[in-house]
Amino acid sequence: MKKAKVKLKDIDLIAFAQGPGLGKCLRVGAVAARTLASYLNKPIIGVNHCVAHIEIGKLTSKFKDPITLYVSGANTQILALASGKYRVFGETLDTGVGNFLDSLGRVMDLGFPAGPKIENLAAKSKKYIELPYTIKGMDFSFSGILTKLEQLIKSKKYKKEDLCYSTQETVFAILTEATERAIAHINKNEVLLTGGVAANKRLQQMLATMAKERGVKFAVVPKDLAGDNGAMIAWQGILEYGAGKQQSIKNTNTNQNWRTDEVEVIWV
Ligand code: FE2
Repeated sequence: MKKAKVKLKDIDLIAFAQGPGLGKCLRVGAVAARTLASYLNKPIIGVNHCVAHIEIGKLTSKFKDPITLYVSGANTQILALASGKYRVFGETLDTGVGNFLDSLGRVMDLGFPAGPKIENLAAKSKKYIELPYTIKGMDFSFSGILTKLEQLIKSKKYKKEDLCYSTQETVFAILTEATERAIAHINKNEVLLTGGVAANKRLQQMLATMAKERGVKFAVVPKDLAGDNGAMIAWQGILEYGAGKQQSIKNTNTNQNWRTDEVEVIWV
């Protein structure tokens, strides 16, 4: 607030992430939001965290109706608006790609978060080591790849750089292929990359190449809005409030498992 030169009295609306996520974290945010809303006597809007990742990307890209590849720690999904809801057209069948990269980072002793370190190590190699490639329609999974990587690391026969390079090439190719299938299936002409892992340059590059070949537009959310951030929650609140949503403070219980396709998209 200091940076934005905003005072408490300038606030017109309190928005908070009502779900999905870890119960304790969501509850802390909800308590803070309720307290502020009653203290300031302002309206409150609980928003869906995943939908907020999509909408902040739409705001910055000016895209109207994209296919979104949402890549974060816990979530990895291909989403698009159909009949008034963001439908999940493809998703991970086990772990999110960010958590997968962090698990690999733990095995390799890279520290947390591991994604940027894996990206730097990968840039130093061009040697591809074969890894499992798991894609079923527009769904995919990463646990088999992690098991294989653990075996390769244990054997001590492979360089970290080569393993990181092969990991990125395999996993990002899977995500790119699933997104390409979604384009063919859903017939939209914009692809948006959002979520924390969207900051990865190699993933951006693969999607950009695919989008160009397919003749569709491609955009990435800016780095400072890629990971979890308050701006996306605030913007989502503005959209929903602007579309007429009203929420009672009594109706602000958090929902750990709130799915993207349960949200009525009333603001588009
Ligand atoms: Fe997130």
